[in-house]
Amino acid sequence: MTRTVYVNGAYVPEDEAKISVFDRGFLMADGVYEVTSVLDGKLIDFAGHAKRLERSLGELDMPHPACLPDLLDIHRELVRRNDITDGLVYLQITRGAPADRDFTFPDPATTEPTVVLFTQNKPGLADSPVAKTGIKVISIEDQRWARRDIKTVQLLFPSMGKMMAKAAGADDAWMVEDGAVTEGTSNNAYIIKNNTIITRHLGNEILHGITRAAVLRFAKEAQMKVEERSFTIKEALQADEAFITSASMFVMPVVEIDGATIGAGTPGPVAARLREIYLDESRKVAV
Ligand code: PDD
Repeated sequence: MTRTVYVNGAYVPEDEAKISVFDRGFLMADGVYEVTSVLDGKLIDFAGHAKRLERSLGELDMPHPACLPDLLDIHRELVRRNDITDGLVYLQITRGAPADRDFTFPDPATTEPTVVLFTQNKPGLADSPVAKTGIKVISIEDQRWARRDIKTVQLLFPSMGKMMAKAAGADDAWMVEDGAVTEGTSNNAYIIKNNTIITRHLGNEILHGITRAAVLRFAKEAQMKVEERSFTIKEALQADEAFITSASMFVMPVVEIDGATIGAGTPGPVAARLREIYLDESRKVAV
Protein backbone atom coordinates (compact mmCIF):
# COMPACT_ATOMS: atom_id res chain seq x y z
CA MET A 1 0.00 0.00 0.00
CA THR A 2 1.30 3.45 -0.87
CA ARG A 3 1.54 5.59 2.22
CA THR A 4 0.04 9.02 2.42
CA VAL A 5 2.58 11.43 3.90
CA TYR A 6 2.29 15.07 4.94
CA VAL A 7 4.59 17.65 3.36
CA ASN A 8 4.21 21.37 4.01
CA GLY A 9 0.44 21.48 4.31
CA ALA A 10 -0.47 18.75 1.78
CA TYR A 11 -1.33 15.07 2.13
CA VAL A 12 0.38 13.31 -0.78
CA PRO A 13 1.28 9.75 -1.85
CA GLU A 14 4.81 8.98 -0.61
CA ASP A 15 6.21 8.67 -4.14
CA GLU A 16 4.99 12.16 -5.01
CA ALA A 17 6.38 13.87 -1.91
CA LYS A 18 9.17 16.34 -2.67
CA ILE A 19 11.77 18.26 -0.63
CA SER A 20 14.29 20.71 -2.07
CA VAL A 21 17.94 19.63 -2.43
CA PHE A 22 18.71 22.93 -0.65
CA ASP A 23 16.72 21.95 2.41
CA ARG A 24 18.86 22.54 5.50
CA GLY A 25 17.66 19.30 7.03
CA PHE A 26 19.34 17.51 4.12
CA LEU A 27 22.45 19.71 3.86
CA MET A 28 23.14 20.57 7.51
CA ALA A 29 21.04 18.19 9.66
CA ASP A 30 19.38 21.47 10.68
CA GLY A 31 16.16 19.88 11.79
CA VAL A 32 14.31 18.46 14.76
CA TYR A 33 12.01 15.47 15.02
CA GLU A 34 9.59 13.53 17.17
CA VAL A 35 8.37 9.95 17.12
CA THR A 36 4.96 9.26 18.66
CA SER A 37 3.58 5.77 19.01
CA VAL A 38 0.07 4.73 18.04
CA LEU A 39 -1.77 1.99 19.90
CA ASP A 40 -5.34 1.00 19.03
CA GLY A 41 -5.39 3.91 16.57
CA LYS A 42 -4.62 6.48 19.30
CA LEU A 43 -1.55 8.59 19.99
CA ILE A 44 0.50 7.82 23.11
CA ASP A 45 1.94 10.74 25.12
CA PHE A 46 1.14 13.23 22.32
CA ALA A 47 1.16 16.28 24.61
CA GLY A 48 4.66 15.45 25.86
CA HIS A 49 6.03 15.07 22.34
CA ALA A 50 4.40 18.33 21.20
CA LYS A 51 5.89 20.17 24.17
CA ARG A 52 9.40 18.79 23.61
CA LEU A 53 9.14 19.70 19.91
CA GLU A 54 8.43 23.33 20.82
CA ARG A 55 11.38 23.30 23.18
CA SER A 56 13.71 21.85 20.50
CA LEU A 57 12.59 24.55 18.03
CA GLY A 58 13.16 27.25 20.65
CA GLU A 59 16.63 26.01 21.64
CA LEU A 60 17.72 26.17 17.98
CA ASP A 61 16.04 29.50 17.28
CA MET A 62 14.12 27.77 14.53
CA PRO A 63 10.93 29.41 13.26
CA HIS A 64 7.73 27.73 14.37
CA PRO A 65 5.77 26.48 11.35
CA ALA A 66 2.28 27.89 10.89
CA CYS A 67 0.79 24.40 11.26
CA LEU A 68 2.28 23.87 14.76
CA PRO A 69 -1.10 24.30 16.56
CA ASP A 70 -2.68 21.80 14.12
CA LEU A 71 -0.18 19.00 14.72
CA LEU A 72 -2.60 16.81 16.66
CA ASP A 73 -5.12 16.98 13.80
CA ILE A 74 -2.39 16.24 11.26
CA HIS A 75 -1.18 13.23 13.28
CA ARG A 76 -4.74 11.92 13.56
CA GLU A 77 -5.47 12.48 9.89
CA LEU A 78 -2.34 10.56 8.86
CA VAL A 79 -3.23 7.71 11.22
CA ARG A 80 -6.71 7.64 9.68
CA ARG A 81 -5.61 7.87 6.05
CA ASN A 82 -2.99 5.14 6.50
CA ASP A 83 -5.30 2.95 8.55
CA ILE A 84 -2.79 2.58 11.39
CA THR A 85 -3.90 0.56 14.40
CA ASP A 86 -0.44 0.10 15.92
CA GLY A 87 2.60 1.97 14.70
CA LEU A 88 4.47 5.24 14.79
CA VAL A 89 4.09 8.78 13.51
CA TYR A 90 7.41 10.42 12.55
CA LEU A 91 7.51 14.21 12.38
CA GLN A 92 10.39 16.37 11.20
CA ILE A 93 10.73 20.14 11.01
CA THR A 94 13.75 21.73 9.36
CA ARG A 95 14.85 25.33 8.96
CA GLY A 96 13.64 25.09 5.39
CA ALA A 97 15.19 25.50 1.97
CA PRO A 98 16.96 28.79 1.27
CA ALA A 99 17.99 29.72 -2.30
CA ASP A 100 21.50 28.33 -1.92
CA ARG A 101 23.79 26.44 0.48
CA ASP A 102 25.00 28.74 3.23
CA PHE A 103 26.15 28.06 6.79
CA THR A 104 24.34 31.06 8.23
CA PHE A 105 20.66 30.71 9.04
CA PRO A 106 18.30 32.01 6.35
CA ASP A 107 15.97 34.93 7.07
CA PRO A 108 12.78 33.36 8.49
CA ALA A 109 10.77 36.06 6.71
CA THR A 110 11.71 34.54 3.35
CA THR A 111 12.45 30.88 4.21
CA GLU A 112 9.60 28.83 5.66
CA PRO A 113 10.37 25.80 7.80
CA THR A 114 9.84 22.43 6.13
CA VAL A 115 7.34 20.12 7.83
CA VAL A 116 7.16 16.41 7.04
CA LEU A 117 5.18 13.67 8.75
CA PHE A 118 4.79 10.01 7.87
CA THR A 119 3.45 6.89 9.54
CA GLN A 120 5.10 3.52 10.12
CA ASN A 121 2.78 0.56 10.39
CA LYS A 122 3.82 -1.81 13.22
CA PRO A 123 1.06 -4.33 13.92
CA GLY A 124 1.29 -5.66 17.47
CA LEU A 125 3.81 -2.98 18.50
CA ALA A 126 3.03 -3.40 22.20
CA ASP A 127 3.11 -7.22 22.05
CA SER A 128 6.71 -7.52 20.87
CA PRO A 129 8.02 -11.01 21.74
CA VAL A 130 11.38 -9.34 22.48
CA ALA A 131 9.86 -7.91 25.68
CA LYS A 132 9.68 -11.52 26.97
CA THR A 133 13.35 -12.29 26.26
CA GLY A 134 14.99 -8.86 26.59
CA ILE A 135 17.73 -7.25 24.53
CA LYS A 136 21.53 -7.33 24.63
CA VAL A 137 23.56 -4.14 24.63
CA ILE A 138 27.23 -3.27 24.29
CA SER A 139 28.90 -0.17 25.73
CA ILE A 140 30.54 2.37 23.43
CA GLU A 141 32.05 5.79 23.89
CA ASP A 142 29.51 8.61 23.45
CA GLN A 143 30.77 10.61 20.49
CA ARG A 144 27.72 12.80 19.87
CA TRP A 145 27.57 16.58 20.13
CA ALA A 146 26.99 18.20 23.52
CA ARG A 147 23.31 19.23 23.12
CA ARG A 148 21.62 15.86 23.21
CA ASP A 149 18.66 17.39 25.03
CA ILE A 150 17.58 18.83 21.67
CA LYS A 151 15.98 16.16 19.48
CA THR A 152 17.84 16.91 16.25
CA VAL A 153 18.10 14.72 13.16
CA GLN A 154 21.89 14.40 13.59
CA LEU A 155 21.65 10.64 13.99
CA LEU A 156 24.86 9.49 12.35
CA PHE A 157 26.63 8.47 15.55
CA PRO A 158 23.56 6.68 16.96
CA SER A 159 23.33 4.82 13.61
CA MET A 160 27.02 3.89 13.89
CA GLY A 161 26.37 2.72 17.44
CA LYS A 162 23.56 0.42 16.26
CA MET A 163 25.92 -0.98 13.60
CA MET A 164 28.63 -1.60 16.22
CA ALA A 165 26.05 -3.42 18.32
CA LYS A 166 24.96 -5.50 15.34
CA ALA A 167 28.57 -6.40 14.51
CA ALA A 168 29.02 -7.55 18.12
CA GLY A 169 25.88 -9.72 17.97
CA ALA A 170 23.94 -7.33 20.23
CA ASP A 171 20.76 -5.31 19.76
CA ASP A 172 21.83 -1.85 20.84
CA ALA A 173 24.56 0.20 22.48
CA TRP A 174 24.70 2.18 25.72
CA MET A 175 26.89 5.21 25.35
CA VAL A 176 29.44 6.13 28.01
CA GLU A 177 30.97 9.54 28.70
CA ASP A 178 33.53 10.29 31.44
CA GLY A 179 32.94 6.81 32.78
CA ALA A 180 29.16 7.17 33.15
CA VAL A 181 26.34 5.84 30.97
CA THR A 182 24.52 8.62 29.16
CA GLU A 183 21.77 6.71 27.32
CA GLY A 184 21.06 4.15 24.60
CA THR A 185 21.46 5.10 20.93
CA SER A 186 17.73 5.81 20.67
CA ASN A 187 16.43 5.30 24.21
CA ASN A 188 17.02 6.13 27.87
CA ALA A 189 18.93 3.63 30.04
CA TYR A 190 18.06 2.31 33.54
CA ILE A 191 19.28 -0.18 36.09
CA ILE A 192 17.50 -1.59 39.12
CA LYS A 193 19.30 -2.46 42.36
CA ASN A 194 17.47 -3.56 45.51
CA ASN A 195 14.17 -2.41 43.96
CA THR A 196 15.51 1.12 43.33
CA ILE A 197 15.23 2.40 39.76
CA ILE A 198 18.38 4.27 38.77
CA THR A 199 18.59 6.43 35.63
CA ARG A 200 20.76 9.34 34.61
CA HIS A 201 19.64 12.77 35.78
CA LEU A 202 18.39 15.24 33.15
CA GLY A 203 20.86 17.64 31.56
CA ASN A 204 22.29 18.48 28.14
CA GLU A 205 23.95 15.04 27.99
CA ILE A 206 20.76 13.07 27.32
CA LEU A 207 17.45 13.41 25.56
CA HIS A 208 14.67 14.13 28.03
CA GLY A 209 12.62 11.10 27.08
CA ILE A 210 8.86 11.47 27.13
CA THR A 211 8.54 7.78 28.00
CA ARG A 212 11.16 8.31 30.74
CA ALA A 213 9.07 11.08 32.33
CA ALA A 214 5.91 8.95 32.27
CA VAL A 215 7.60 5.78 33.55
CA LEU A 216 9.28 7.61 36.45
CA ARG A 217 5.95 9.25 37.34
CA PHE A 218 4.14 5.88 37.34
CA ALA A 219 6.98 4.28 39.31
CA LYS A 220 6.74 6.94 42.02
CA GLU A 221 2.95 6.62 42.09
CA ALA A 222 3.43 2.87 42.63
CA GLN A 223 5.71 3.68 45.63
CA MET A 224 8.83 2.48 43.81
CA LYS A 225 12.08 4.20 44.72
CA VAL A 226 13.70 6.26 41.96
CA GLU A 227 17.23 7.72 41.90
CA GLU A 228 18.10 10.12 39.06
CA ARG A 229 21.90 9.97 38.93
CA SER A 230 24.82 8.75 36.84
CA PHE A 231 25.83 5.11 36.90
CA THR A 232 28.72 3.19 35.39
CA ILE A 233 28.81 0.03 33.29
CA LYS A 234 30.47 -1.67 36.28
CA GLU A 235 27.49 -0.79 38.46
CA ALA A 236 25.10 -1.92 35.73
CA LEU A 237 26.82 -5.29 35.57
CA GLN A 238 26.08 -5.76 39.28
CA ALA A 239 22.47 -4.63 38.99
CA ASP A 240 19.46 -6.89 39.53
CA GLU A 241 17.80 -5.71 36.31
CA ALA A 242 18.28 -3.25 33.48
CA PHE A 243 15.96 -1.76 30.88
CA ILE A 244 15.48 0.99 28.33
CA THR A 245 12.55 3.24 27.45
CA SER A 246 11.48 4.98 24.25
CA ALA A 247 8.34 5.83 22.34
CA SER A 248 8.84 2.85 20.03
CA MET A 249 10.05 0.26 22.59
CA PHE A 250 8.05 1.46 25.64
CA VAL A 251 9.82 -0.35 28.53
CA MET A 252 12.21 -3.00 27.20
CA PRO A 253 14.28 -5.26 29.47
CA VAL A 254 18.06 -5.47 28.94
CA VAL A 255 19.47 -8.88 29.86
CA GLU A 256 23.09 -8.61 28.76
CA ILE A 257 25.73 -5.87 28.74
CA ASP A 258 29.06 -6.42 26.96
CA GLY A 259 28.45 -10.16 26.89
CA ALA A 260 27.76 -10.48 30.66
CA THR A 261 24.27 -11.35 31.88
CA ILE A 262 22.34 -9.01 34.17
CA GLY A 263 20.66 -10.69 37.12
CA ALA A 264 19.28 -14.04 36.00
CA GLY A 265 19.81 -13.19 32.31
CA THR A 266 16.06 -13.00 31.79
CA PRO A 267 13.69 -10.01 32.08
CA GLY A 268 13.16 -9.17 35.73
CA PRO A 269 9.89 -8.49 37.58
CA VAL A 270 10.34 -4.73 38.04
CA ALA A 271 10.90 -3.99 34.35
CA ALA A 272 8.01 -6.27 33.43
CA ARG A 273 5.70 -4.47 35.88
CA LEU A 274 6.79 -1.03 34.67
CA ARG A 275 6.10 -2.06 31.09
CA GLU A 276 2.63 -3.23 32.05
CA ILE A 277 1.84 -0.08 34.06
CA TYR A 278 3.19 2.20 31.32
CA LEU A 279 1.16 0.52 28.58
CA ASP A 280 -2.04 0.34 30.66
CA GLU A 281 -1.90 3.92 31.92
CA SER A 282 -0.80 5.43 28.59
CA ARG A 283 -3.55 3.68 26.67
CA LYS A 284 -6.13 5.12 29.09
CA VAL A 285 -5.16 8.70 28.24
CA ALA A 286 -4.19 8.16 24.58
CA VAL A 287 -5.66 10.62 22.10
N1 PDD B 1 14.25 7.94 20.01
N2 PDD B 1 17.32 9.03 23.92
C1 PDD B 1 17.53 9.11 22.60
C2 PDD B 1 18.91 9.40 22.12
C3 PDD B 1 16.48 8.93 21.69
O1 PDD B 1 16.69 9.03 20.37
C4 PDD B 1 15.18 8.62 22.19
C5 PDD B 1 13.99 8.43 21.28
C6 PDD B 1 15.01 8.52 23.58
C7 PDD B 1 13.67 8.22 24.21
O2 PDD B 1 12.79 9.32 24.11
P1 PDD B 1 11.22 9.11 24.04
O3 PDD B 1 10.85 8.32 25.24
O4 PDD B 1 10.68 10.48 24.09
O5 PDD B 1 10.92 8.37 22.77
C8 PDD B 1 16.09 8.75 24.42
C9 PDD B 1 13.18 7.80 19.05
C10 PDD B 1 12.16 6.81 19.45
C11 PDD B 1 13.78 7.53 17.68
O6 PDD B 1 14.75 8.18 17.36
O7 PDD B 1 13.24 6.72 16.92
